[in-house]
Amino acid sequence: MHYNTHLFCIAPMMEWTDRHCRFFHRLLTRRARIYTEMITTAAVIHGDRARLLAFDPAEHPVALQLGGSEPKELAQCAKIAADLGYDEVNLNVGCPSDRVQQGRFGACLMAEPRLVADCVAAMKASVKIAVTVKCRIGIDDHDGEEDLDEFTRVVQEASVDALIVHARKAWLSGLSPRENREIPPLDYERVYRLKAAHPRLAIVLNGGVTDLAQSASHLARVDGVMMGRAAYQEPRRLLDVDPFLFGVPAQFVSPQAAAQALIPYIERELARGTRLNAITRHVLGLFRGVPGARAFRRYLATEAIKPGAGIATLRAALGLLRASEAPLAQSSAA
Ligand SMILES: Cc1cc2nc3c(=O)[nH]c(=O)nc-3n(C[C@H](O)[C@H](O)[C@H](O)COP(=O)(O)O)c2cc1C
Repeated sequence: MHYNTHLFCIAPMMEWTDRHCRFFHRLLTRRARIYTEMITTAAVIHGDRARLLAFDPAEHPVALQLGGSEPKELAQCAKIAADLGYDEVNLNVGCPSDRVQQGRFGACLMAEPRLVADCVAAMKASVKIAVTVKCRIGIDDHDGEEDLDEFTRVVQEASVDALIVHARKAWLSGLSPRENREIPPLDYERVYRLKAAHPRLAIVLNGGVTDLAQSASHLARVDGVMMGRAAYQEPRRLLDVDPFLFGVPAQFVSPQAAAQALIPYIERELARGTRLNAITRHVLGLFRGVPGARAFRRYLATEAIKPGAGIATLRAALGLLRASEAPLAQSSAA
C-alpha cells in the first residue's frame, strides 16, 4: 500500500528532481509524496519515453508532472503514466517561462480555467490514479481573489483530486522564472482563505516552506505542504518528515547513514553506465551545518565529474567529514 496523502510533498524541479534525486530523497523520507521534473506531453508522446519516465519502485508514492494544454494528449500521457505505475499525474499551471508560454501551458493557463478543467476531466476519464494541478495564486492582472476562486471552482467541478498552490503570483513578462520564485511576496493568507472557501478540495500550500515547524502551522490551515528549494539544497531536513509529520521513525538516523545507504544504488547505476556525478550532485548539500561539509562538497563536486570516478570517490568525500574538526559555527556556511 502506498501512503496516499499530500501531507508533505517534494516539489517538481526541472534539472533537479530527476530519478536519482528522487531515489535519494526517498531514503530520507518514506512518506513524502515526490514529484518528477515537468515533462511535456510532446516529450512523453514522441520522445525517449523509457528514459524520460523511468523511476525506481522505491520512489512510490511518486507523481509525474506534465506540461501541456491539449486534453487528448494529456489523457494519453496520463494513461501512459498510470500504466507505468505512477501514483499521480500533475498538470503544471504554474511555470512562467517564455518557452512554456509559447507552448500555451504553464502559468498562462491560469487565465483559461475552462481549458484546464477540460484537461483535468480528460485525464480523469482515462485513469484511476490521482489527477492534480499545481498553480499560482494569480498571474499578471488575473490576480483578484475572485479569479483564483473561479479557477478553483471550475477545476474542482472537473473532479481534480488536489490543488497545489504556489502562494505567489506569476508575472508572465519582465521577470525570469528564477526572479518569479522570489518576487512578488508570498501570500499564505490567500491560500488559507482558498481552503476555507473550498473545504472539500484538498489544497496543498507551496512556496518558501523551509522547516517542519512552519509546515505544521500551515497544516493547521491546509491539507498539505510542498517543499522545493529547501528540500533540495539541504536534504537532511527531510529526515525529520516521517517522525515529525507522520509519527513514524525515519529510515535512517543520520545523514551519514543515508549516504551509506545510497552506495548500493550508486554501484548499480555505475554498472549501467551512469556517471557518478549524475547522482552525487544531488547529495552535495546533505551535510550542510556538519563539520567538514564544505570539504565534502568541494571534493565531491570536483572529483565526481572526472572519468573513472566511483564509489571510492564518494567514500573519500565522506572521509573528509569524519576527519574534519572544524567547529560547527565555522562550517555552517559550507
Ligand atoms: C530549479 C527549479 C526548477 C523548477 N521546476 C519546476 C517544474 O518543473 N515544475 C513546477 O511546477 N515547478 C517548478 N519549480 C517551482 C517549484 O516547484 C516551487 O513551486 C517553487 O520553487 C516554490 O517552492 P519553494 O519556495 O519551496 O522552492 C522549479 C523550481 C526550481 C528552484
